[in-house]
Amino acid sequence: MLESKKIREGLYWVGATDYSRRLFDALIPLPDGTSYNAYIVKGTEKTALIDSVDPDMADTLLDNIKGIERLDYIISNHAEQDHSGAIPAVLRVHPEAKVVTNPKGKGLLSSHLGIKEDRFITVADGETLDLGGRTLEFIYIPWVHWPETMATYLREDRVLFSCDLFGSHLATSGLYSSREEKVTEAVKRYYAEVMMPFRTIIRKHLAKLDGYQIDIIAPSHGPVHNEPAAVVAAHKEWVSDERKNTVLLPYISMHGSTLKMVDHLTDALCEEGIKVERFDLTVTDAGRYAVSLVDAATIVVATPSFLTGAHPHVVSAAFLANALRPKLRFGAVIGSYAWGTRMVEQVTDLLSGLKLDMMEPVLVKGDPRGDGFKALDALASEIKKRHKEDGIELS
Ligand SMILES: Cc1cc2nc3c(=O)[nH]c(=O)nc-3n(C[C@H](O)[C@H](O)[C@H](O)COP(=O)(O)O)c2cc1C
Ligand SMILES: [Fe+2]
Ligand SMILES: [Fe+2]
Repeated sequence: MLESKKIREGLYWVGATDYSRRLFDALIPLPDGTSYNAYIVKGTEKTALIDSVDPDMADTLLDNIKGIERLDYIISNHAEQDHSGAIPAVLRVHPEAKVVTNPKGKGLLSSHLGIKEDRFITVADGETLDLGGRTLEFIYIPWVHWPETMATYLREDRVLFSCDLFGSHLATSGLYSSREEKVTEAVKRYYAEVMMPFRTIIRKHLAKLDGYQIDIIAPSHGPVHNEPAAVVAAHKEWVSDERKNTVLLPYISMHGSTLKMVDHLTDALCEEGIKVERFDLTVTDAGRYAVSLVDAATIVVATPSFLTGAHPHVVSAAFLANALRPKLRFGAVIGSYAWGTRMVEQVTDLLSGLKLDMMEPVLVKGDPRGDGFKALDALASEIKKRHKEDGIELS
């Protein structure tokens, strides 16, 4: 095991860093690569491996644990393949090891990886496993972001192995987040992409975790948080109902008319003291868009009409916003059309899961002129009024 990846005596990071992976879930760009974190915990009697790595990097994990003669337990906090996919390879090298998970995890590991019944030990919420001088406590934290997700707490060392929760897609040479400038953005991006749809349940999990003394959070992606207070506080803010005086403005324009509307609305909102985050959907990175969704109060979707509805890139962005369940409060549709359109109905329908308070749309036939611009000014004032009424702190 690598000395540079030693957390404490008998406690090591043994995962795999993938500097060159560029896409996750076949959707989300990974500008900084990622890591699959696995950890070895040694007691005086037993040795446990916490999670594994993506199956593509199983050899790296096996290499990192080749000094382990007897492996008693493989703790599986989460059955998704980026953490469980190398468990079969570890079991081949260590036929003595048992896979420790909860009943839901067992079901998923059986169906996804074909792990046999007799290899499992299932644990209940709060159950412990004694390694000899070191105790692992299993804490159920379902739906971050699958139904079986749990965390493992190493009591004596006050280390929380939180799996995807508190993770980040950030490949680094060092072990700890306190030395990484990019970590705050990377953790927020990870929260936005993976955790945001489960905001309400995470709020409960954070309260549950408040009951534990935690010196180190060791997640399954990105650097280890050796000063965990900041990352926990940031999550508490993101899952709260506090919204920012910000308008998210995703847009497409084929021939420039909708773009003129977007430009005008941007200026009008700035005049009202409202921050605007614009996304040209021809080039938008879905991760950055998700980050902006974390705390904005309002979304204004701007689209030309395209074969009756909205432009396909806009449809996709509206679908993603709806699926990620951000705490947006207000919405509107603006755009240009030529002869007749149902784009407002379509976008409103796509966003319906968010239960937004929708404002009057602004539609312009062809190129926007006086009345269209006036309507956009009125929309900007209306947004300011709604933000104020909703108690959002105006900048
Ligand atoms: C492929 C394509 C499909 C279109 N479909 C419609 C439509 O169904 N209904 C409509 O009113 N206009 C339709 N239009 C016209 C545009 O919506 C209209 O020209 C608008 O002003 C374009 O705005 P833009 O300059 O922001 O791209 C279509 C245009 C294109 C290029
Ligand atoms: Fe996951
Ligand atoms: Fe993951």
